[in-house]
Parts: sequence; C-alpha cells; structure tokens
Amino acid sequence: DWTGLTDGFGRRIDYLRVSVTDRCNFRCVYCMAEDVTFLPKRDVLTLDEMDRLCSAFVGLGVRRLRLTGGEPLARRNVVGLIQGLSRHLRSGAVDEITLTTNGALLAEHARALKGAGVERVNVSLDTLNAETFRAITRRGDLGRVLGGIETALEEGLRVKLNCVVMRGVNERDLEPLMLFAHGRGMDLTLIETMPIGVVGQDRSDFYLPLSVVAERLADRFTLDETSERQAGPARYMRVRETGGRLGFVTPMSHGFCGDCNRVRVTCTGQLALCLGRDVFIDLKTPLRASEGDDLLRRAIGDAVAAKPVGHDFAPAQLGRPVVVHPMSMTGG
Ligand code: GTP
Ligand code: 5AD
Ligand code: SF4
Repeated sequence: DWTGLTDGFGRRIDYLRVSVTDRCNFRCVYCMAEDVTFLPKRDVLTLDEMDRLCSAFVGLGVRRLRLTGGEPLARRNVVGLIQGLSRHLRSGAVDEITLTTNGALLAEHARALKGAGVERVNVSLDTLNAETFRAITRRGDLGRVLGGIETALEEGLRVKLNCVVMRGVNERDLEPLMLFAHGRGMDLTLIETMPIGVVGQDRSDFYLPLSVVAERLADRFTLDETSERQAGPARYMRVRETGGRLGFVTPMSHGFCGDCNRVRVTCTGQLALCLGRDVFIDLKTPLRASEGDDLLRRAIGDAVAAKPVGHDFAPAQLGRPVVVHPMSMTGG
C-alpha cells in the first residue's frame, strides 16, 4: 500500500534525482556552452543540506536516489554524501543509490562508491572515436573514461552506458559502441537530443529520431522487444546476436511522461517537477528555516501534488530552447 508522494495524476513519485553540482570537467556540445559560467559556490547547497533534503524525500517514500550534475564526482567528498545516505539502504528505506557520471573521475572513486553501497552507475559515452569524443566533450579524454569504466567493472559495479545520438556526429559510431558495451556485459541506452539549456548553438541539426537508428541496426542485428525496465524512461530491446540490452530514451519522438515516477532537485535546492518545464519550487528556504523537517516535508508534498502532466518537446525547439535552465543544474 502506497502512502508516499503521489501527484495529481495519480503517479507515484518514488525516484529522486539530485544535481550535486552544476560544475563539470567536460563541456559537451548538447549540454553547455564552451564559455559557460557556473554558479557561485555560495549558491550551492552544502552536502549536509543535500543529505537532509534527500532524507526528507526518503521519509516521504522515495526509494531510489540518483546523484547527477554537472559531474557529480567533481564535487568534493560526494562519496562522503553517499556514505551518509547509505544508512537508508541499510535500514531498507531505500532500494538504490546511484550516479550518472561522465566517467573521467570514476577510476579514482569506483572502490569507495562500491564500498558505500552503490551497485551500478550510468556513464555517459557517446562514441569510441577519440577525435569525435573530443569534439563532443570539448575537453574530455576518452582514455580516462574507458579506464574509469574498466575500473568500475573490476570493482564489481554494474555499468550502463548512455549515448546521446546526434545526426552527422556519432550516428555511425553506435554499432561499435553497442558491441563494446555488450561485450563487457553493459547495457547501452541511446538518447534523443533534448532542447534544454541555452548552449550557444543550434541543436536542430543533431536531431535524429531513434526509430531511424533502430531500423538501421535491425539491418544487421535482431532486436527483440522486451518489457524489461530500469527505473528510468528507457524502453529496452534485447539484441539476439550479442545477448545484450539496448535502451531507447525518446523524449522527442515518443513521450513517456504518462508513467513518470520522478522529480529532481537542483544543486541550489530548487525542486524541478518536470525536466521539460522551467518551473521550480524553492526548497532551500524551508530547508534553512528550521532544524526540523516539517516545513520542508509540507513544501515537498504540496509541490509534488501539482506536478505538471509532462513536457511536449518539439524538434523545432532545438533551435531555440523553451527550457532555459541548464541541464547541469537539473541533472538531466
Ligand atoms: P536508470 O535507473 O538506469 O533507468 O536511469 P535513468 O535512465 O533514469 O537515468 P540516466 O541519468 O541514465 O538518464 C538517461 C537519460 O534519460 C538522460 O539523458 C536523461 O536526461 C534522460 N531522462 C531521465 N529521466 C527523464 C525524464 O523524466 N524526462 C526526460 N525527458 N528525460 C529523462
Ligand atoms: N539532450 C539529451 N541528453 C542530454 N544529456 C545532457 N544534455 C542533454 C541533452 N540536451 C545527457 C548526458 C547524460 C544525461 C544525464 O543527460 O549525456 O547522459
Ligand atoms: Fe558534463 Fe554531462 Fe554536461 Fe557533458 S553532459 S558537459 S559530462 S554534465
């Protein structure tokens, strides 16, 4: 019997994504401008405040926590935050604490993450071609990311790869990426480019509906439908030749808001009810207003009740995004 957060459309909200920093060591072309200005550090919640916020959500029924960014591992002592939050794993209040990372700092942190109770991580990797990788991330080093993935696997973490598909940029790199992922027992999820954040560039040219990608792959592989899901919006196919899973996140071509189970908190303590809306509810003020969590819990409950039905992304928005807040604040 569900007694936790429920929105006005009857959707259970049991998944919280928290952006722990808007900073990143990469500058991916679809995510931020090359000359991005990050928030002043004083605007960003302390790790203690993030723990309190997460714990308030856990008290309200949230069972999965995902730390995002920016790059979550770029925040000092983010492992300490997870170690603290792992008390909710031990008490059975939470099923999973995990991370979405660009992988560059994963080699250094994999063992501690595993020790803190993290069982799987999602790593963003759009290509195995070093030049293309550099062009997309502007400052990433492919070798370091691959090393991070290798170490994570050696430490016993499950790894899922996330790939933003861009027409004319990495559309020819998907098959090698899939073979690499499946060869090492990793799922690969493909993602359509979303019109979020002003990135100093028109992303319209990047748009490629994933149905096209699936058709192309189907020339060479047998893709079997599955009803398997992770916590997120991806729909999975099983690739018969590799035995691996291929996920499709299709916010542009195929909405999935109807069974949304999640909300987000930005690194400044704003509650984002939907990734595709510029609506934020201030949780920092109730968080700081008192030592107890009553005000905070009430603010969260009232806000979630008013969660919008969803987003309505259109490819035309890729030229001029309607959602102006950066992806790095809301964590994708
Ligand atoms: P799993 O627990 O592994 O299913 O994770 P996830 O897919 O929820 O998280 P991840 O951070 O790996 O996100 C994969 C992609 O899905 C990213 O590009 C996200 O921006 C996108 N995504 C996740 N949740 C939503 C959502 O509610 N709406 C939209 N439009 N995109 C989302
Ligand atoms: N469209 C789609 N995915 C994006 N990501 C970042 N920006 C965008 C965008 N504009 C992805 C990252 C990461 C995840 C959290 O979001 O690659 O995998
Ligand atoms: Fe950093 Fe991820 Fe944005 Fe790339 S997509 S710039 S790795 S936050």
